[in-house]
Amino acid sequence: MSLKKTLSIIKPDAIESKYHGKIIDFLENKGFKIVAQKKLKLSKVQAEAFYDIHKERPFFKDLVDFMISGEIVAQVLEAENAVLFYREVMGDTNPEKAENDTLRKLYGTNIQCNAVHGSDSDENATKEISFFFSNLELIN
Ligand code: CMP
Repeated sequence: MSLKKTLSIIKPDAIESKYHGKIIDFLENKGFKIVAQKKLKLSKVQAEAFYDIHKERPFFKDLVDFMISGEIVAQVLEAENAVLFYREVMGDTNPEKAENDTLRKLYGTNIQCNAVHGSDSDENATKEISFFFSNLELIN
């Protein structure tokens, strides 16, 4: 069995609605190990850096404003094929299109306020994990 890691963010909408406890339960019930976790509030510069890949997209400014509008919880999740598995568990980016029993269907509101973020590749997972966590924080 080859365990991999992915970076998850519980976004400001889900924290504001006090869904983070339910999301953590959901993840553990699906079999993810939460290797590291912290609550924080991003600065504008940090949010712009994290979402740099989207900087040319029309929704970039709104995305950054939303991500700095409140506290977030950043998590490192471990499972077999963690990146792909978490993308299945999150569901479609747009909660209206997400399958039943996915996090975005259950807790998302719209394409911006969609409750959670997950890395889209192993390469980006490595970068995104090191954006939020030092090696010392990744206890196994
Ligand atoms: P996330 O997985 O955090 O990655 C980038 C985010 O941009 C995405 O979730 C959405 O919340 C947001 N996003 C993607 N597409 C759109 C869009 N068309 N309009 C507004 N926000 C979007």
